Amino acid sequence: LIGVYGNEIKMPVYVVGGFVRDLLLNIPNYDIDVVVEGNGIEFAKYVGKQLDAIVVPYEKFYTATLVFKDGFKIDVATARTEYYEKPGELPQVDVSTIKKDLYRRDFTINAMAIKLNPNEFGVLYDFFNCQKDLEEGIIRILHNLSFIEDPTRMIRAVRFESRYNFKIEEHTLEILKRNLEANYLERVSGARIRQEIEKILEERQPLIAIRRLAELGILKHIFPKTYYTPTMDEKLERVFRFLPLVKQRYQNISDFYAISTVLLEFYDKETLDFMRNRYGYPKKFIESLKFTENMMLPLKSMIESQLSFSDIYKVIGKGNPYIFIHLSAYLDDEGQQYLLRYIDAILNTKLEKVTGKYVMEKFNLKSGPVINEILETLYAMKLDNPN
Ligand code: CTP
Repeated sequence: LIGVYGNEIKMPVYVVGGFVRDLLLNIPNYDIDVVVEGNGIEFAKYVGKQLDAIVVPYEKFYTATLVFKDGFKIDVATARTEYYEKPGELPQVDVSTIKKDLYRRDFTINAMAIKLNPNEFGVLYDFFNCQKDLEEGIIRILHNLSFIEDPTRMIRAVRFESRYNFKIEEHTLEILKRNLEANYLERVSGARIRQEIEKILEERQPLIAIRRLAELGILKHIFPKTYYTPTMDEKLERVFRFLPLVKQRYQNISDFYAISTVLLEFYDKETLDFMRNRYGYPKKFIESLKFTENMMLPLKSMIESQLSFSDIYKVIGKGNPYIFIHLSAYLDDEGQQYLLRYIDAILNTKLEKVTGKYVMEKFNLKSGPVINEILETLYAMKLDNPN
């Protein structure tokens, strides 16, 4: 239908990028990116009117999003040649043809288009031997400036590599390393780097990608003081095992913060401040990171020796999910299970009837810090004996 509308307003229309890649790989993908040779916004408005969809235009980029009643979305772009005024910044845009549009993309596997206009419906546009790379499982840049134009592509390369079990081709790898060493990643905003890492964390096997980021030296340009040792790998492995269980118990857990508890271990204060600035960690997060780091050994042994919940409570109180996640990096399965039981006790234990007022009346006390102490003690006792 999109193609029919293309004909009606005389514009060639293509579906491009990830959708085509996954179609050829026989993998479902519901992210539809459409490119129009012509004005993408005008096209989106036309389709929106015919199909009663909302059009959200981004004038500056000549793009628009069509939002249908059932929530389905299609992104529409104008075929364009982007040029970047400064590396790492958002591109400037020029109107152009589909071939140029495809050429400016990240990798060959993402640089194919399928025509949607009825006369040529379904025809694959493959100008750069992309299909061959897709079949052979190769991640290849289209031109040597690719990583300079958008350094986050270094991270994307690893993401696609591990998602499809593909390999970054040799020349691409060479250019990647060269641009990496020239510190191009450092020119990108922390928010964009963080977004790319978060995308990796949404993949099925994030640890494999993280290992590869470390192996290629990319991780060092994101977490400058992190030494990716086998011990660190083991810690992350344990965190990834524990994470789904924490997510069942707390809402809005960030995977990025979760792995950061391990990746940011033993950072000096200055670098931590820098990281906080760059990646936007909350102050509280950094504080609890330091707390857990200092208390790690006693906490680990308390949990391993299955000390009573009330004793653990004296040290970490109600804690917070990132403290527990960090701790989980040091615990084997049995330790993690005990920690989970502690978390459940904390989440399910409440002093229902017993309030400050109740304590004051019952024991004939005046208000003061002692009331709080009594409440805390009662709470800790209840942790051990829920009934
Ligand atoms: N693209 C690019 N350079 C980037 C990001 C994206 O050239 N830094 C292009 C690629 O052609 C990509 C398309 O824009 O296919 C859409 O990008 P995106 O939605 O981020 O990725 P997908 O390829 O759709 O991958 P995913 O399956 O992870 O959504």
